[in-house]
Amino acid sequence: MQKKYLIGNWKMYKTVQEAIIFMQQLLPQLQAIDTRPLALSIAPSFVHLSTIAALIDDYKSIQLVAQNCHHETEGAFTGEVSAAMLAAIGVGGVLIGHSERRSYQKEDNLLLAKKIKRVLEVGMQPLLCCGESLEARRSGRHKAMVQQQLLESLVGLTPKEIEQLGIAYEPVWAIGTGQVASLEVIIEMHTLIREILSDQCEGAKVPILYGGSCNAQNVKAIFDAPNVAGGLIGSASLKVDQFMKIVIALLGKDGTGHR
Ligand code: PGA
Repeated sequence: MQKKYLIGNWKMYKTVQEAIIFMQQLLPQLQAIDTRPLALSIAPSFVHLSTIAALIDDYKSIQLVAQNCHHETEGAFTGEVSAAMLAAIGVGGVLIGHSERRSYQKEDNLLLAKKIKRVLEVGMQPLLCCGESLEARRSGRHKAMVQQQLLESLVGLTPKEIEQLGIAYEPVWAIGTGQVASLEVIIEMHTLIREILSDQCEGAKVPILYGGSCNAQNVKAIFDAPNVAGGLIGSASLKVDQFMKIVIALLGKDGTGHR
């Protein structure tokens, strides 16, 4: 069976001390259960990546994801972080085009296409985020918006390259609002994304994740829906007990059995 992706996106939360305490509490709890049905990742701030990499060194079943990277390979770009720098410290994937970056950093689809290339070049998995605004949904333009985001961000990639990606469908109106998308919306949009991908490559190979107000109560039904390969969890990933409740909701009462 395909592992379900579970990625905790910490955004700009936690000092390094708080991150260490989180991991010191989380890791023993994960070690006590069989997490193999999950592909677990944490996406902390850049400055915590090396520290967390050292903490999870002998516990390979949790991976590191970065929240962003620069679109050039290297150069005079003060304050930026390259894909190669991330790969060198053991990061396995990079979020590309999270809606907060599209909105606050004005990242557009063409820039994201370049970032995807850089991430692939150094052997990491780009996790391309897409999703419509509330305005687009209200005016019935939600499908067109997501289609445009995907097609413009995949420009110049070969089918084989596209097959290395993960896509995260995160409707902007569901992120951090407590207003999770309905199963109907999730299924409809994931089916659309699958169709768009299938025109570009062997679409079934690309995992499509959902993100936006996932929590321990709704996560199981969402992850079980057709074409949902897992999810990106923001606020509910910030506290160890809430994050573990999500893990347990997915694995069953006490994992699939104590080791
Ligand atoms: P949320 O964030 O779970 O807090 O809605 C999800 C995300 O931004 O990836």
